[in-house]
Amino acid sequence: MRLIGKPAKHIHMSERETWATRAGFILAAVGSAVGLGNIWQFPFKTAQFGGSSFLVVYLIAVLGIGLPAILAEFVIGRKANLNTIDAFEKLGYRNWRIVGVLGLATGFWILSYYSVVGGWVLRYIAGSLTGAYFGDPAAYFGQVSAGMDALVLHAVFMALVIGIVALGIEDGIEKATKLMVPSIVVILIALAVWAFTLPGAGEGYAYFLSPNFDALTANFTEIVPFAVGQAFFSLSLGMGAMITYASYIDGDESLFSDSLTIVVLNTFVGVLAGLVVLPLLFAQGIDPNTSGAGAVFVSVATAFAELPAGNILGFFFFVVVLVAALSSAISLLEVVVSWAVDNTSYSRPVIATGLGSVIFALGIPSAWDTAWLTWFDTLAYQLLLPLSVLGILVFVGWVYGRPALAELLKGSNAGEGLGLTWLWTARTVVIAGVVGTLILGFQTLFVGGAIVPPF
Ligand code: PHE
Repeated sequence: MRLIGKPAKHIHMSERETWATRAGFILAAVGSAVGLGNIWQFPFKTAQFGGSSFLVVYLIAVLGIGLPAILAEFVIGRKANLNTIDAFEKLGYRNWRIVGVLGLATGFWILSYYSVVGGWVLRYIAGSLTGAYFGDPAAYFGQVSAGMDALVLHAVFMALVIGIVALGIEDGIEKATKLMVPSIVVILIALAVWAFTLPGAGEGYAYFLSPNFDALTANFTEIVPFAVGQAFFSLSLGMGAMITYASYIDGDESLFSDSLTIVVLNTFVGVLAGLVVLPLLFAQGIDPNTSGAGAVFVSVATAFAELPAGNILGFFFFVVVLVAALSSAISLLEVVVSWAVDNTSYSRPVIATGLGSVIFALGIPSAWDTAWLTWFDTLAYQLLLPLSVLGILVFVGWVYGRPALAELLKGSNAGEGLGLTWLWTARTVVIAGVVGTLILGFQTLFVGGAIVPPF
């Protein structure tokens, strides 16, 4: 055999796993998309950037830029049925594997600190029940978000992620996300209904959603790139996750309608989260003018500390945050695990444990000191993610082109016209959007000095 050519590399291909159902694939992708971004970024930025006026801009960004981009990743994954690196070779472009490597590295990098935050959430689930953070939420956050405390819980979170991924696509990720995604929606709806009953909730809604064109126009140059960047991050693009998940699709269903479902559900959960946190903050007279970790672990935590039944409500809220983070994290570990499963003969559990441990180790600095976490995040967000998305779009739009179009139209009754619209949008508008975010990212990194690690 060897004399004939290279040894068959992807020997495991015939037994490659697949999703059991189409809904399983969609829910897993929604689970990846719905994450911390939807809960601690989206509602606060929406409020700050002009409420429902911003929502319109965001919807345009998500439908005009996010949707074509997620379709590009789905096309690569479904056509190749291989991990995010070898997929490019399978499609006939060996050199473009570098784009896959970049995506995989980005996912690896992001998971290392995302897991640290997942650890904080675990701590807050327990802390809600015991009331540990009720006394002084800001001081408590400072205490548990770094050092040994954070390190131990980073390990626990990573172990959960490894456990699910080790069970495989159908028995692990699909089963887990089928339970997780509906739970997120149901608990958030229940919390939103409860928040509605709070005195002062109305002001929260007004702050969150009332249109404010002045805020929108005044910050337009900041808002548009934010909306575009958020659309990419929130849809888990540029990390190999969507390519990998699509590679387990068995059969050809309409990628158009699947993507639309994913994008709509992802936005819906962001809005739902806003309908919980903003009324909650306003009811307690807490300034919502922050986002990120401080918003959830300090502001929202303070509200629970002051409310009757705050223990139980805080518990459910942080359970939602945990489930959202977990279902995103598994999609990132799966990117690397998928590559190793396709290329080595080790068993999936061994691979998941081994690679998960390496990612855990990479996250140690972020767990130890939040300055590292911020640095890791800035680098990912401003540089790695947009570069990786750019590579994918140039590949699908300009290099792969026509066959991508054919793959997209498979299983869909959309006409050639819609397909061409997609291709040209990807080739032009989406690429322009990514280049724009990349340029702004460079300013932060090189002009703003964020590229220097916090030694
Ligand atoms: N879509 C995720 C979010 O909004 C981003 C992400 C995906 C982060 C996968 C980590 C892993 O949080």
